[in-house]
Amino acid sequence: MKFHIITFGCQMNVCDSDWLSYYLQTLGWEPVAEEEAECFIVNTCSVRDKPEQKVYSLLGRLKEYWEANPRCFVAVGGCVAQQVGTAFWKRFPFVRLIFGTDGVANVPAALQQIADDPDQRISLLDFLDEYPERENRFPAFLPAQAFVNIMQGCDNFCAYCIVPYTRGRQKSRASRLVLDECRALVDRGVREISLLGQNVNSYGLDDHGDGVSFAELLHKVAAIPGLDRLRFTTSHPKDIAEEVIQAFGSLPNLCPQLHLPVQSGSDALLKSMGRKYTRKRYEKIVRDLRAVCPDIALTTDLIVGFPGETDQDFEDTLQLMRLVRYESSFSFKYSDRPGVRAERMTNKVPEAVKQERLQRLQALQAEHTIQALEARVGKQDQVLVEGRSRKSDDETPCWRGRDLGGRIVNFHGDAPDLVGKIVPVTITKAKKHSLWGEVSGSPW
Ligand code: SAH
Ligand code: SF4
Ligand code: F3S
Repeated sequence: MKFHIITFGCQMNVCDSDWLSYYLQTLGWEPVAEEEAECFIVNTCSVRDKPEQKVYSLLGRLKEYWEANPRCFVAVGGCVAQQVGTAFWKRFPFVRLIFGTDGVANVPAALQQIADDPDQRISLLDFLDEYPERENRFPAFLPAQAFVNIMQGCDNFCAYCIVPYTRGRQKSRASRLVLDECRALVDRGVREISLLGQNVNSYGLDDHGDGVSFAELLHKVAAIPGLDRLRFTTSHPKDIAEEVIQAFGSLPNLCPQLHLPVQSGSDALLKSMGRKYTRKRYEKIVRDLRAVCPDIALTTDLIVGFPGETDQDFEDTLQLMRLVRYESSFSFKYSDRPGVRAERMTNKVPEAVKQERLQRLQALQAEHTIQALEARVGKQDQVLVEGRSRKSDDETPCWRGRDLGGRIVNFHGDAPDLVGKIVPVTITKAKKHSLWGEVSGSPW
């Protein structure tokens, strides 16, 4: 079978899609471009209204392939699938598999059945009691960077967020299995691992934990011989342990980079969002991180126009941004999600106000981003090369990768293939969202 995967949403979805793609390839299925596919797998995100609507317009487009060739079918997975469930079948007859986030492990077998039997439809929507372990099958070529899930779900129920409903309750994975997977990846040549979860700082604190805390897990993974770089996401500020902060000063392969979503700089809003930290506590975490790792690249998520957000609340957010000076941020207009607490709040912010606040916030972030990038000029960094740079327009090949802080760096280098290599690069120029540099040492 020829298949094509389309992924929306967070890195956990990317990780699930990667696993599916690898597994299907070991069954002899072939990944192809959209126009050639017979099986489409759409891994969806429901975190805001916009990504949800994108799924429906995509399905409208995929319908044409089915009309031209009734053998074509679609599998819908991820968070919208979990939320909408088998209602998809009524609206989209060419959808023949619906799977939620705990169902991913059983998707290859379900797809085989569907491919063999044109009358078959399957749903895999149950939440499981345990972390749904899945067999690792790696293709011949693996990129140098890999994601490893350490948990599933979330117990925080922030007032705006649908994730606890779509991913279920928090289930930590056994540390032994996380370590086995990391070791297997490093044996296959992986150089950088990102540990993933909706709230990695509370790893091991649920009933499924095996007594190993997140800080201990970080130390164990970092100690795997041959692992050059370690990252993790996402971190909830309320649960970040002192030992995790200290790890940025003591683990040589833990990259100096942290995504620490703050959402708002106003205590009143943090309270009504249910974030369970104050601005003061957040600022202290930032100070402590910078004390152990002065170069740490901090990024964040921000919501504007949460119900009840006043001009002053919004100013508090801008002021926090000026204090922390994030390298970059993801910022969103508050979006009503079905069934969450904030949906029932009555003090909604008008769309025009949300829009204006978002623009102001993003303009401020653009200033901070360019200043942060300019501050890198003249510094030497280590770039793990991901591929050829699209900006390559002259004779010397141009490469693109990420530095230790996670920033995108482009550089010229005439080696035949640098993908997967770590290249010492001196930064020469800052662009709006990325850096340019020159090779200043031997690739390794
Ligand atoms: N687990 C992560 C966040 C996952 S969702 C954490 O707690 O940090 C990614 C981001 O989407 C959130 O950080 C938040 O900024 C945004 N988001 C979630 N629900 C939203 C909503 N209803 N409206 C707007 N943004 C939302
Ligand atoms: Fe959503 Fe909050 Fe859980 Fe993050 S911590 S996934 S924002 S409920
Ligand atoms: Fe989206 Fe689900 Fe991730 S809602 S952000 S894909 S957990």
